[in-house]
Amino acid sequence: MRYLVTGGAGFIGSNTVDELVSRGHSVVVLDDLSGGKDDNLAEIRNKITIIKGSITDIEVVRKAMHEAEYVLHLGARTSVPRSVKDPLETNRINIEGTLNVLVAAKEMKVKRVVFAASSSAYGETPTLPKVETMQPQPISPYGVTKYVGELYSQAFLKCYGLETVSLRYFNIFGPRQDPSSPYSGVLAKFCTAFLEDKQPVVFGDGEQTRDFTFVDNAVHANLLACEAPNVAGKVFNVGCGDRISLNQVLAALRKITGKPLEAKYEPPREGDIRDSQADISEARQFLGYDPQVGFEEGLRITFDWYRESQLKSAAREAAAKEAAAKEATAKEPAAKTER
Ligand code: UD1
Repeated sequence: MRYLVTGGAGFIGSNTVDELVSRGHSVVVLDDLSGGKDDNLAEIRNKITIIKGSITDIEVVRKAMHEAEYVLHLGARTSVPRSVKDPLETNRINIEGTLNVLVAAKEMKVKRVVFAASSSAYGETPTLPKVETMQPQPISPYGVTKYVGELYSQAFLKCYGLETVSLRYFNIFGPRQDPSSPYSGVLAKFCTAFLEDKQPVVFGDGEQTRDFTFVDNAVHANLLACEAPNVAGKVFNVGCGDRISLNQVLAALRKITGKPLEAKYEPPREGDIRDSQADISEARQFLGYDPQVGFEEGLRITFDWYRESQLKSAAREAAAKEAAAKEATAKEPAAKTER
């Protein structure tokens, strides 16, 4: 099978591409590397086609989609606070970009588009857990764009017969989630804070809850959503069905690392929802989805991954310094002779 993964060099995208490749599929990645990294695909670079370009350019999208049977549309401008700061940019990438993907998919007659939707669509609906039949009430520009993506996906099924499935991810975390931006996901931030013995920053009182979901579970759902029968036009929650507060996350990290780090509490962020928890019965029933890795195990794997990658980059830096020093010494006699 041939798959196009938009945002395939990103966190969830590259983990999905790894799995597709390991199952022997042919994969094209479309990514402008604004959030994604070339490095995320380093180990499989020779096995896939990478097109550097943006989903906001429909010609590039058309080219990348050539002969694709399935499209996993994960390319997006993530982050709630970034959307609050720059709603136009989030709108352009998440709504116009998604529309480009859908238009090209309709033209190319792809079998199905799986759209990375978001639990942020629920907004401040008070009921927990969140069920797909609830009326979405997004409270951030980001949540609005993700919800509009779902509506467009459904309209394309109705108007053009294009099969689409939307997956409302609930706070996905795991290896390759970038910790370096102020807009990075909270678990990436917390793990690296513990590694570097820095105080983790909590926006609010830390009692807000999320259904933190290890990335393998999202990958599992992505692949199921491509092939499950009778799901066109549907929307599914992808989470674990639990609710964990940030203070509980910090306690778990103290346990894993043995470090008694205390958090620094700052005012809550605009656009933040308070609580989030998925009802995953629909995904279980229609997709055959079942969370593969629980929160604590996922957190351990993730923390170990950040530790390993820090060690690797420290080793790379040391090797580069040594090579530079050797080169400088090798040049020295020549420089002396010239004088
Ligand atoms: C996250 C995703 C979003 C996704 C949504 C639902 C990211 C960056 N955002 O949004 O793409 O659609 O889940 O799956 O992955 N916080 C701190 N300290 C920090 C960072 C964050 O206290 O250093 C707090 C935030 O204020 C918020 C909570 O942690 O209350 C979660 O924030 P974040 O990880 O940014 O995720 P969401 O906004 O829930």
